[in-house]
Amino acid sequence: MNNFFTANLSEADPVISDAISNEVRRQAYGLELIASENFVSEAVLQALGTVLTNKYAEGYPGKRYYGGCEFADVVEQAAIDRAKQIFGADHVNVQPHSGAQANMSVLLAALEHGDTILGMNLSHGGHLTHGHPLNFSGLNYTVADYGVNKDTEQIDYDELQRIAEESRPKMLICGASAYPRTIDFARIGEIARSVDAMVMADIAHIAGLVAAGLHPSPVPHCDFVTTTTHKTLRGPRGGMAMCKEEYAKDLDRRVFPGVQGGPLMHVIAAKAVSFGEALQPDFKTYQEQILKNAQALAKALTGAGLRLVSGGTDNHLLLVDVFMDGKGITGKEAEKALDEVHITVNKNTIPFDQNKPFVASGIRLGTPALTTRGMKEAEMTKIGEMIAAVISEPDSDEVRAKVKAEVAEITARFPMYKR
Ligand SMILES: Cc1ncc(COP(=O)(O)O)c(C=O)c1O
Repeated sequence: MNNFFTANLSEADPVISDAISNEVRRQAYGLELIASENFVSEAVLQALGTVLTNKYAEGYPGKRYYGGCEFADVVEQAAIDRAKQIFGADHVNVQPHSGAQANMSVLLAALEHGDTILGMNLSHGGHLTHGHPLNFSGLNYTVADYGVNKDTEQIDYDELQRIAEESRPKMLICGASAYPRTIDFARIGEIARSVDAMVMADIAHIAGLVAAGLHPSPVPHCDFVTTTTHKTLRGPRGGMAMCKEEYAKDLDRRVFPGVQGGPLMHVIAAKAVSFGEALQPDFKTYQEQILKNAQALAKALTGAGLRLVSGGTDNHLLLVDVFMDGKGITGKEAEKALDEVHITVNKNTIPFDQNKPFVASGIRLGTPALTTRGMKEAEMTKIGEMIAAVISEPDSDEVRAKVKAEVAEITARFPMYKR
């Protein structure tokens, strides 16, 4: 018998196996502060690496276009039921392969080509799929945008009302990729209704906080709610779309066959496992710690003289102005300097940025991943000081060596996957 079904990856494909081993080490021995990343549980990883990847299951539980879907049905129905229990939505579709595809499905379900959407400006914290000219959303719809107030750097809801009255969108899109403040979904729902618009909330970043009741839920106020499953929600890489019952059929037929073919059943199984985890009491404790850690990090950074966009954070992320009107360094330089000491962040534009997006004046930091590793306020305070030290002296070999040693010390105390 050949060893097709039994060979280990390391024997079958050393190139890929080695790259994966190196990535395991990179994750274990670095400090991961990218706000959109997290570490899934061993159980979620196991579900991802299963024979469900072999199965075609076009359609939905009980209504498939392929035979042999009885176990796929169990998996997908469990994911749907658990997601409904977490978010209280009328209807859930767990098949979107990504957050972008969840958003695309919703826009296709609700709009006609050329209709107007009103989304948050990318440079103020919004997402590409909310109307960027190079994205399907900007290519297929007429786009109006709103942003933050120049002084408060927070969403100005009165101004949003004014823009909505002026642009008369068919769909108001809220939710963000780089907005550190609580979003008032109730107010946004009122604004949308006042201009007869539908409203979609994209909670990709804050889904875990919403699941734990630590950020107000958009579900009662919005026609559609989309999310990724891999950020604060701590599931596998993927998307999900929820809606009021009246849109259920349209949403489902836009996910499949609208934008996708066969669902990724191994990913849906992993989504179900992570939703099961999110329903456990310790998930709330985890999300509370994410928030406490963000506060500790914010305090350490401001204490060291760095400016936080909007003056602080209410959620899991911080937008740090490292450029400070030319007194500091660019986001690009900060990202590189921190990378060299194994602290992973991403450069990010800040509202009204003087620098181009690829250079940017800010960095975006988030606490979900390090909180999963078990780090708490004491580590966050230390890490904030380390980040500030690197940013204030990015070319100092002495600072670099010291911070690198501190990263090694902290990561060794918080081990990750055994394999
Ligand atoms: C608010 C928001 N929506 C959608 C997405 C897109 O998710 P994906 O990368 O899975 O397509 C992101 C990803 O960063 C996001 O931040």
